[in-house]
Amino acid sequence: MEKKKGTNIVWSSDQVSYENRCKIFGQKGLVVWFTGLSGSGKSAIAIELQKRLTEEGFAGYRLDGDNIRHGLNADLGFGEADRDENIRRIAEVAALFQDAGLVTLVSFISPYEKMRSFAKSKTREDSFFLVYVKASLETCINRDVKGLYKKALAGEISDFTGVSAPYEEPEHPDLILDTDTITLEECVKTLFDIISKKVRIG
Ligand SMILES: Nc1ncnc2c1ncn2[C@@H]1O[C@H](COP(=O)(O)OP(=O)(O)O)[C@@H](O)[C@H]1O
Ligand SMILES: [Mg+2]
Repeated sequence: MEKKKGTNIVWSSDQVSYENRCKIFGQKGLVVWFTGLSGSGKSAIAIELQKRLTEEGFAGYRLDGDNIRHGLNADLGFGEADRDENIRRIAEVAALFQDAGLVTLVSFISPYEKMRSFAKSKTREDSFFLVYVKASLETCINRDVKGLYKKALAGEISDFTGVSAPYEEPEHPDLILDTDTITLEECVKTLFDIISKKVRIG
């Protein structure tokens, strides 16, 4: 069935501004976008960072690829068009959360440069921080946290990033966390120190 676009849609403006919300939170909104291979450590770092942010009084929220695919993006697969749609939707959601004033941690493989750039373009200026969670394919295969590499290498999963689908390394990440060589604790500390300075106001 062909989808019909809505017409006669008029934007309604708010009487409360982003600045109003930032004042209430005592922080600016920020999208912290994690990209990297499956098993590189995106979720593990985001989970610990969210915990640390909360302990230190920041309002943060985590949008995780696997979790979002249970709901909002449950209709999408892993071919290139669906991966693009997956990121398009989450980029829009992340921009809304940033606008709400939250430190928004987004952990999706997001293998294509064009979609990461799209996500940045959707977010308020200076409010997007790209973290490349870098691990060699070998490390990810050895970790095989979810047993997916085993299946992908056996040909049981198609379009698996790093095995049967491409991963484009970010050209200009704001930070690289090399989880082959740096511990989870060190990654979280490095990131927390940067993020807390960026978002704190007053
Ligand atoms: N420095 C590190 N940073 C993040 N995770 C690490 C690190 N070293 C080892 N790990 C482990 O690697 C695994 C990464 O899995 P996960 O966070 O689910 O990956 P992703 O979300 O990128 O698919 C976890 O079991 C984590 O404990
Ligand atoms: Mg994950």
